[in-house]
Amino acid sequence: MSSLVIEGGRPLRGAVGVVGAKNAVLKEMAAMLLAPGRYRLFNVPKILDVDLMGRVLSHMGAHVEIGEGELSVVIPAKVTPTAPIELVRTMRASIVVLGPLVARCGEARVALPGGDDLGARPIDIHMGGLEQMGVEFDLVHGELIARCERLVGAEIELKFPSVGATENVLLAACVAEGETSIINAAREPEIEDLADFLNAMGARVSGAGSAIIHVEGVESLHSADHSVVPDRLEAGTFAVGAAITGGDVTVTACNPPHLRVELKKLEEAGCRVERGEGWLRVVGPEKPRPVDFATLPYPGFHTDMQPQMVALLSVADGTSVVTENLYDARFRYMGELARMGADISTEWQHAVIRGVKELSGCQVLAHDIRAGAALVLAGLRAEGVTVVGDCEHIDRGYDHFVEKLESLGAEIERRDT
Ligand code: EPU
Repeated sequence: MSSLVIEGGRPLRGAVGVVGAKNAVLKEMAAMLLAPGRYRLFNVPKILDVDLMGRVLSHMGAHVEIGEGELSVVIPAKVTPTAPIELVRTMRASIVVLGPLVARCGEARVALPGGDDLGARPIDIHMGGLEQMGVEFDLVHGELIARCERLVGAEIELKFPSVGATENVLLAACVAEGETSIINAAREPEIEDLADFLNAMGARVSGAGSAIIHVEGVESLHSADHSVVPDRLEAGTFAVGAAITGGDVTVTACNPPHLRVELKKLEEAGCRVERGEGWLRVVGPEKPRPVDFATLPYPGFHTDMQPQMVALLSVADGTSVVTENLYDARFRYMGELARMGADISTEWQHAVIRGVKELSGCQVLAHDIRAGAALVLAGLRAEGVTVVGDCEHIDRGYDHFVEKLESLGAEIERRDT
């Protein structure tokens, strides 16, 4: 168990670089299962989820080497198509091995991940899409068994643009017989990046990043190298860090158009935002203005930026209303923020945040990656000392978080207990 101890009240100032996106690299690691060979990924974040996905691949027979900023994986000619519960429970992203495994081996046995701290998180859309391509499912003792003799392309309309379902179907479609169209596909930049990687492996994918993705199935794929798209959530978290501390932070190696709505909301909150090719700068106000927003699939306001933004609005000069449309339990962290003095009430998926004069530091717990980041940002603003417990959640998704914040002038240290 580890905690982050933060002495609040220091504005973040300076420049910080972001690395590749967690939510792209994990899916690209799963994509490797589609073909044997040696793969290399660059711009890889040093985070626990990459280690975990490395363990999932190793369990299947791969040789995985994780270096600083890069990853090398050798996928053998024969893989073991199983993902046990110990590996799946801690990281839901591992469900995207389903499509590649069933495509490559004709069978996959993946423990059903179940709910998590964000809510129920079913996988019915993943299964529905794969079923249309000929996959049959059985659930035996908590293990999802997928089988398919011949994977056939289809026109698949998703009832909701689920990121994971789009990815699972896309991965399977690359080597299915014939053409697949994914309609109402998720449009996230990480899916575009995954498609670029798949095309480098010899796939024929077009339209990724739009609501309709076309895939022409090919006989086989081959290994490839790829540099991972910048992490917009890491960039966005530092942007809110500048905003909440009244600081001045330049984020480099990022892609500002991927944060269009979130940066607009920061401007509405009184920040000065400058954007350039591969960088953005946020100068925070003394007191933020209240802002309303609703989370939506890309290009809407990202649910994974909602907790950080709520931390900012908790000290705004007025009342904000935030609606969470993606997860049914994403407000749990608000109880922790309330312990720091935030005034927030919730009704179903709506939260009313009445800005308070100041937050005051205390002991809080991180329930998930983004909640943890939000509590750290709140601690940077708060009077006195904040101790964010269970910070392993933050380690799952943020590369060198403490070191990067320190480089911006934060007073923060890690304590292992
Ligand atoms: N959903 C269903 N059925 C499905 C799939 C999804 O009802 O078959 C629902 C989910 O329960 C959820 C909503 O649809 O309420 C969105 O789920 P989606 O499938 O789009 O999300 P995901 O693929 O499980 C990824 C990210 C999340 C991010 C969401 C939304 C990864 C590894 N995870 O999850 O990231 O919040 O997309 O953008 O890519 C994070 O990084 O902290 C994180 C939680």
